[in-house]
Amino acid sequence: MNKLIAPSLIAADFSNLSQQIRLVEIGGAHMIHCDIMDGNFVPNITFGPLVVESVRKITKLPIDVHLMIRNPDNFIFEFAKAGADYISVHQEEVQHLDRTINLIKDQNSKAGVVLNPATPISTLKNIFSILDFVLIMSVNPGFGGQQFIPYTLEKIRELDKIRAEKGYKFRIEVDGGIGKSNIEKISSAGCDIFIAGSSIFRSGNISAATVELNNLVNPSIN
Ligand code: DX5
Ligand code: ZN
Repeated sequence: MNKLIAPSLIAADFSNLSQQIRLVEIGGAHMIHCDIMDGNFVPNITFGPLVVESVRKITKLPIDVHLMIRNPDNFIFEFAKAGADYISVHQEEVQHLDRTINLIKDQNSKAGVVLNPATPISTLKNIFSILDFVLIMSVNPGFGGQQFIPYTLEKIRELDKIRAEKGYKFRIEVDGGIGKSNIEKISSAGCDIFIAGSSIFRSGNISAATVELNNLVNPSIN
């Protein structure tokens, strides 16, 4: 199955969002990743459903909404209504994860759970079968432009092994510090969907950077 590049808008120039999204589309991006931050769950604030609604008007690509917020249950309907095709919540934040996953699915969005670098994969053991994707944070959530945390590579391998052994269908997303120097080893570890902010939007050539990451993980399309 093809590997997917999901540029994260956190690193985009918001004064020119439409043009920035067009440039990643030209580069062959497969999804648009929206980092939603409330200044409580993480020490930063980004944007809400209003911006997702605008992104929905700009692009036909699937929109991947990463909720780094307190009480995400309260906003699932709003983000789904705004156009989110994928919605992920943090395991560290949700008390009733099975119910939250079903809330997301009831909105016909794909449901995912995010694990911070220090959170063990085993916390999801009982719900792997109902997840559409698992998002492994390879940085501590809150900011773009951070360095990839090396020990998270082992987490990706561990998750991929469990998926293969049990025949689970969830996809593996990885988020944070991904660029041309490490994307191939992240791909070999089992990642299917690569979230990249700075390495694309701060590259100096957005379309070319997207093409380059794409070619590194999908060499057969060259
Ligand atoms: C952290 C954010 C970032 C972002 C990617 O909370 O989730 O990881 O998506 O940013 P870069 O690619 O600049 O690390
Ligand atoms: Zn993210």
